[in-house]
Amino acid sequence: MQKLEMYRGPITGGYVLCTDCEPKYEAEHAERSRAAAFGDTAIPPEFADATWESFLPRAGTELARDICRVWYQANDGRFLYLTGPVGSGKTRLACTLAAAAFRERTTSVLFVHVVDLFDRLRAAEMKGPGEDDNFRIPALAARQLLVLDDLGVEKPTEYTCTRLLQLLERRHQAGHPTIITSNLSLDALGQRLGDDRIPSRLADWADLAIVRATDYRLERAGQRAKRKSR
Ligand SMILES: Nc1ncnc2c1ncn2[C@@H]1O[C@H](COP(=O)(O)OP(=O)(O)OP(=O)(O)O)[C@@H](O)[C@H]1O
Ligand SMILES: [Mg+2]
Repeated sequence: MQKLEMYRGPITGGYVLCTDCEPKYEAEHAERSRAAAFGDTAIPPEFADATWESFLPRAGTELARDICRVWYQANDGRFLYLTGPVGSGKTRLACTLAAAAFRERTTSVLFVHVVDLFDRLRAAEMKGPGEDDNFRIPALAARQLLVLDDLGVEKPTEYTCTRLLQLLERRHQAGHPTIITSNLSLDALGQRLGDDRIPSRLADWADLAIVRATDYRLERAGQRAKRKSR
């Protein structure tokens, strides 16, 4: 019969059913903490299981995938600029890297869509110190790995350009890598922002990977439609 005992493990001073249960309890607790920490990365659930193995070798993706792998291995603080057409797999590649970094290196990973980034930055600035501190420039600059998804879709203003420049500068100075995904080439990004300062820095600080693949969402939709019509 199981008996209630004082739990003497490092996690909590609570009660467990028996000493045999202790390792199981600890493992479950560790798994729960890990799942919570993964949630904190804000990697979208759709890409939570993104791995190199699950990234399909579609035509036009090979070189970009290899550049991403080399970039990951180098781990030298350089940025990574991932560009390519809609649906080609940029966000999936970025999340593959971010999830690998979380599993193998650090929990200090954050994924954020650029539109949310500016909304959250503005909201944090409206609040007092101590509130929403995760979304202030110093905290964002301190993350070991930051993914900025879909750069260029935000409506560019003086505010967005200034904050982005400030964030990228601080991360570069700290030697913390940033992964940026965008549908725009660096030239087109400069035109979109009406400002060459950001593309100029990215050309210098970032490795460039171009995903030259077609839209996988459309491909999937086509496959689904075919299956239904059979
Ligand atoms: N090589 C791949 N292997 C497996 N799934 C893929 C691959 N490429 C894309 N996908 C899937 O296709 C969908 C679109 O990919 P993703 O969101 O990464 O594209 P994107 O290039 O970021 O598109 P957008 O420009 O619209 O942001 C996702 O569901 C993603 O998981
Ligand atoms: Mg995307």
